[in-house]
This record gives sequence, structure tokens and C-alpha cells, in this order.
Amino acid sequence: LKKIDENFISFGDKFPAPASRDNIYPVIDNTEWTSSFWTGMLHLAYEFTGNGKYLDAASVNLGSFKRRVETRDHTATHDLGFLYTLSCVANYKLTGNETAKNTALSAADLLIERYHEKARIIQAWGDLDNPEERGRMIIDCLMNLPLLYWTSKITGNKKYFEIAYEHALMSAGYLVRDDFSCFHTYYMDVQSGEPKYGKTNQGYSDTSCWARGQAWAIYGFTLSYGYTENRLFLDTAVKMADYFLRHLPEDLICYWDLSLSEGSEERDSSAAAIACCGLTELSKYMADNVSMMSLYSKAASAITGSLIKNYTTEKLRSSNGILMHSVYSKPANEGVDECVIWGDYFYFEMLVRSLMEWNSYW
Ligand code: GLY
Repeated sequence: LKKIDENFISFGDKFPAPASRDNIYPVIDNTEWTSSFWTGMLHLAYEFTGNGKYLDAASVNLGSFKRRVETRDHTATHDLGFLYTLSCVANYKLTGNETAKNTALSAADLLIERYHEKARIIQAWGDLDNPEERGRMIIDCLMNLPLLYWTSKITGNKKYFEIAYEHALMSAGYLVRDDFSCFHTYYMDVQSGEPKYGKTNQGYSDTSCWARGQAWAIYGFTLSYGYTENRLFLDTAVKMADYFLRHLPEDLICYWDLSLSEGSEERDSSAAAIACCGLTELSKYMADNVSMMSLYSKAASAITGSLIKNYTTEKLRSSNGILMHSVYSKPANEGVDECVIWGDYFYFEMLVRSLMEWNSYW
């Protein structure tokens, strides 16, 4: 909360960049896939404290989210889900703000434009006719589907639900491997609908398991189970959680790729924070299996404990981030061993989940 207080004065109506430089986030306009993590933190801070100053700051952010969707500024991305869930959907859930609701509904309309009917997937990145990106789905997208499930609930139009559901089925079918690790990305032939091949973007190799991808999948499949009640998604989340937990080093904070176990390789604390939220959500669905419920909630607490003890910026002299030692993209040498804003968000979400009854924004 102290960091948020400091930041909302210096950020104003702008946003932290996705990753820090020397543990300090540059301040940028609302153009990245990550803008809503800051707004989401403001919503969490409001819920936790009841102090309206956080809600006021979040509401200031909403203007640029509305402009962005209206002008289609940097919207050629599936991350419209991340962007509009933590900003407009969360704001609507907390306050009933109709403008926020309508902005989120417009974002859902842009998101479904990215759906390839024949391949039954939402294309992750770039223009739909970009040959390098055409037909590419990525594991992260599971976290973008709640915007569509929510839109169907609000509008009564099943179309959004069906697209999200089909995409989640295709993710389980092709992004998840037989051993319940995952590809980061997978190409489909959008003309024939046939599967092509898996390829990494941010992982160590095409056959390795990018830690954050596995964490997105644990949380994302659990959320899809919550909306659809298809057991396939719950079983997949369980097996992917088990894979993740089997590949942790001694202090429980994963290396940036789960195939790595070298002390000199960087950790990705953001993947750890995402996994904590995912495991906590997963444990809620284990009511008929007390030992699994306790396994996942204890694992989430233990990982959170390790983050609290050794991975925060508390002892740094100057940093506007909260969780350090994350990796944005090692192959691109971007944000390596830095704070990343979604790491801060999910760490905060996990703390809020631990301290109060929290109604999900997802
Ligand atoms: N969704 C992009 C990332 O996790 O880096």
C-alpha cells in the first residue's frame, strides 16, 4: 500500500512500463498489454482499505481505456482480456459504473474479431493477415477468456461464451503436452483448421516449459472450469499444477523456464505469484478431496511466504516496484531480473486473497 501511495502520485493518469529498469518502472501512456495491472492494483487497494482515493485514481485511468478501445489504439492483441478485466470489468463489479461496463463490452467485441472460425482459436498477436502471426494461439490467452464469459453473462448473448469455450478446448488439445507441460505458442492452419506445430516465444526452447506459461495455464484452466464446469479444464489444471510443483527449486520460486535448475539462471517471481493465485483458485474446487485442497493451498502459502521473505523490494533503496527478480523475456533480453507490473499485481492479489474474502475480477 505504501508503494501504491507513492506511485499514484508519480504515475498520475499514466502507467508503469511492463518491466522496470534497475527496478524502476519508466512511466508510459496506455499503449501496452500491461496497463490494467496498475489499475487492478488500485481496485484491490480500494477493496482492502475501503479508502476512496484508490477508487478515484482507478477511475482516472478508465478514461484512457475508453479512448483506447474507441480509437482502436494498440488493440491488435488478445490481451484485451487482461486490459479490460482488471480495469473496466473490475470497476463495474465494484461500483456498477455503466460507462466502464460498456467499455468492457466494446473490448470483448474487438477480442472476438480475432477468432478464426475454422481453427476455433483466438489469434494472439498482430493483424489477422500477418503471415508470421496468423493462426497462432498462446497459452497466456486463457487469462483473456474471462472477459468473454463475463460478456455473455451480461448481454445474454452466448456467442462470446462459445468462442471462449472453443478456444479453451483447443488450448487443452494442442498447447498442453502429454506430460502436462505446455508449449508457449501453437500454430493452427486457419484455412483447413488443422494443427501445425508448437513454438516458444519466451521460453528456453520449443520443447521446454516456459514457467510463466505454465502458471497462466494453471490459473486460466481453473477459471475456464469455473465458467463452463467442463471437468477437462479442472483435470488439466490439476495435472499442470502438479507438473509446476514438481519442477520448483528449494526456495519454491521457479526459474524462468521449468527445464532449468542452474543456480545462475534467473528466477521468474511473477510466474510464482500467478501460480499462487491459480493454486488458491484451484483449491476452491477440491471440496470433495480434502488432501488435494490442502496440498494446493499449502503450496500457495509456502510460495507466497518465500516471495515475502526474499523477493520484495522492501530493502532496496529506491524502487517503484514491489516484487523483484522476474523475467519478461529472456530470449529478447528484455526485463531480465527486474520487476514486472503483472508480478506486482498477482503478488498483491495473492496477499488480498490471503487476508480477506475477495470476489474475483476474472
Ligand atoms: N502475456 C505475456 C507474458 O506473460 O509475458
